[in-house]
Amino acid sequence: MVDVILGLQWGDEGKGKIVDFFAKDYDVIARFQGGPNAGHTLYVNDKKIVLHQIPSGIFHTDKINLIGNGVVLDAVTLKKECESVAAFGVDYKKNLFISERTHLILPTHRALDKASELSKGTEKIGSTLKGIGPAYMDKTGRNGLRVGDLKDKSFTSQYIKLRLKHQRLLDSFNFQEDISAWEEEFFEALEFLKELNIVNGEYFINEKIAEGKRVLAEGAQGSMLDVDFGTFPFVTSSSTITGGVCSGLGIAPQKIKEVIGITKAYCTRVGSGPFPTELFDATGDFLRNTGNEFGSTTGRPRRCGWIDLVALQFACMINGVTQIVMTKADILDGLEELKVCNSYKINGEEISRIPFQMNKMQIDASYQSFKGWKNNITQVKTFENMPAEMNTYINYLNEFLKVPVKYISNGPGRDQLVNV
Ligand code: GDP
Ligand code: IMO
Ligand code: MG
Repeated sequence: MVDVILGLQWGDEGKGKIVDFFAKDYDVIARFQGGPNAGHTLYVNDKKIVLHQIPSGIFHTDKINLIGNGVVLDAVTLKKECESVAAFGVDYKKNLFISERTHLILPTHRALDKASELSKGTEKIGSTLKGIGPAYMDKTGRNGLRVGDLKDKSFTSQYIKLRLKHQRLLDSFNFQEDISAWEEEFFEALEFLKELNIVNGEYFINEKIAEGKRVLAEGAQGSMLDVDFGTFPFVTSSSTITGGVCSGLGIAPQKIKEVIGITKAYCTRVGSGPFPTELFDATGDFLRNTGNEFGSTTGRPRRCGWIDLVALQFACMINGVTQIVMTKADILDGLEELKVCNSYKINGEEISRIPFQMNKMQIDASYQSFKGWKNNITQVKTFENMPAEMNTYINYLNEFLKVPVKYISNGPGRDQLVNV
């Protein structure tokens, strides 16, 4: 049996914290897509840790963590991350497994990501510059190198061939940076990677499922950054939705049961692209400062705005979401008024669907207003003790989305999660 946790917005919904919380009920926690563009924050013994490559179940010492074939892997980041979790007592040699089909991010992928962004002028995607796009391009272009290729004697010659190809591309971008230091680090990290548990991920996970083990698939990014259904071209390069679980781990759709969608109580986006509910006023600043909305991977300030139910309804539809976890509700504490976008106005017409090419039109968000709550909710343990105003807010969301909000997160801590 497989349950899924994924983001319903533009990423950073709090997936790391929620996966860490739910991990206790599972045997295997598996990442199915994305790479070090992800930054998943969790608190262990009150210490903050941000994971980029390793699944967020790693701090549960009795759980298996799998990096699936759908992920793109930066060996340098992985090595650093293994060393930092080891400082917390994690035995990654025992608990961490990597699919041999996982594609490698090469130093030239990172260079190409940078070169491509530089060439775009004002049309930049706002990529994390981790090499994600170029690595997935080599995967679908059937050129990429995989973790399992490390065993092959011809690995170095394959690498050199691909590097030459990349160099020609970099030359066409007139990219001048010297990447030899990155390459040195890369080859060192490959030696480290070779010593980890490299497995046939699809047999590995299906055998676990057959033994009755419970699997939790952890998404990275968010549904509105999905390469097919997000705000293209301002998206990432992987399938961030439930469908990505099947191709990113090698499991059948019938095995998937609960799809737990995470949304913030408001909305953020980092990088370029459409964001209909974005706020450019004092409320936007309030959300950014109170919510500490600065990227976990790049430190960039996140764009902030009200929750967008048109986008959320779309995300629930394409993912088959069965329950919602709402995070960062505490950030709304003290606001007089809360707003919820329930339709878009485009060319004077009210629209409740996500349009094609959102980036090429003027979208004005239409809002329903709610009274805010005055209380500090960070210490509240039961939904009955939450402010009545929150009840009204949540009821509206439940009715609109036709999917129940089952948990409310009221702080970054492991224990700050209230069952509705
Ligand atoms: P992810 O990428 O989806 O895992 O999310 P990030 O880790 O990038 O960003 C979420 C941020 O919000 C992190 O700093 C978390 O520690 C924090 N966070 C998560 N849930 C809550 C919450 O309910 N309240 C508050 N105040 N912070 C939260
Ligand atoms: P987590 O898992 C928020 C955004 C980038 C950029 C676009 C493409 O922490 O939620 P990429 O590097 O993937 O080519 O960048 O996607 N992006 C994220 N935004 N959270 C993330 O991950 C993101 N990963 C990528 O900012 O706009
Ligand atoms: Mg993040």
